[in-house]
Amino acid sequence: MDLQFNRHRRLRKSPNMRALIRENFLRTEDLIYPIFVAEGDDIKREIPSMPGIYNLSLDHLEEEMNEVVSLGIKSVLLFGIPKEKDACGEQAYHDHGIVQEATRFIKAKYPEIIVIADTCLCEYTDHGHCGLIENGEVLNDASLELLVQTAVSQAKAGADIIAPSNMMDGFTAAIRAGLDEAGFEDIPVMSYAVKYASAFYGPFRDAADSTPQFGDRKAYQMDPSNRMEAMREAESDLMEGADFLIVKPGMPYLDIVRDVKNTINLPIVIYNVSGEYSMVKAAAQNGWIDEQKIVMEMLTGMKRAGSDLIITYHAKDAARWIKEQD
Ligand code: PBG
Repeated sequence: MDLQFNRHRRLRKSPNMRALIRENFLRTEDLIYPIFVAEGDDIKREIPSMPGIYNLSLDHLEEEMNEVVSLGIKSVLLFGIPKEKDACGEQAYHDHGIVQEATRFIKAKYPEIIVIADTCLCEYTDHGHCGLIENGEVLNDASLELLVQTAVSQAKAGADIIAPSNMMDGFTAAIRAGLDEAGFEDIPVMSYAVKYASAFYGPFRDAADSTPQFGDRKAYQMDPSNRMEAMREAESDLMEGADFLIVKPGMPYLDIVRDVKNTINLPIVIYNVSGEYSMVKAAAQNGWIDEQKIVMEMLTGMKRAGSDLIITYHAKDAARWIKEQD
């Protein structure tokens, strides 16, 4: 028989041959670890749907940070869980809010660690929405003012990067202008530019107690069916002065990551969200999957799809596994 075909298996023959042609790598430097800091004393509460992830009060932050640092992780993303919530989310922009205090604590003890502050109101409002409410609607422009105040107070506390996740229109422009005016021209904005209204945030809302008390987030977060709209969001945030763009969630949106990567010349970040983590953990606990192999394949797949950085609850485990491989 005179068959014509290519012999791809030539380059797969041995571990060293495979290493020679490997295209994508997961590095510990790519990983951003989210931490939920809770106001109060002696809180170390495991989130039931997220095994291994805790709400931590400041007095437990040191042990967590020591572990993060010893694993070689260089950046953390802070979410706050205040004691008191109100209609305007005052604890988000209070100079002694929990994220501000946690930022000061981390920067004093671990000055080289990059602290990224999530800038949103939903963890701080009693109605659980990401902005101010009037007549059952989330107000856009009035919410921007509070988000700017939040960002500035986080920068004052020492945050290295501001990460607005609220999906109000113009939040990047408003926060960039607010930071500049307050003298924080050097603080970058990592914008959750492309954020879908996703059921994968369910466990996070348990963790942050931020489930909307009425309605849903579909009037500000994006419709999972849409692809072209993601490019409009990404282009707006580029124009408004973002320094990084986040696509969120991760796994079901890798096509969007690739589109954004091909079009927008900024570092692209993927958020491997709570529901994705919970699914892996649940399957692993049942013995149905090999957790290490699944996580490393998922995270490497995210890099291949075009994300430069990955926000992930698996960060500590992945860092450990990367170390073991070396
Ligand atoms: C705040 C915010 C959310 C997440 C990150 N920032 C929740 C939401 O929009 O409902 C979700 C992260 C996760 O699921 O891991 N707006």
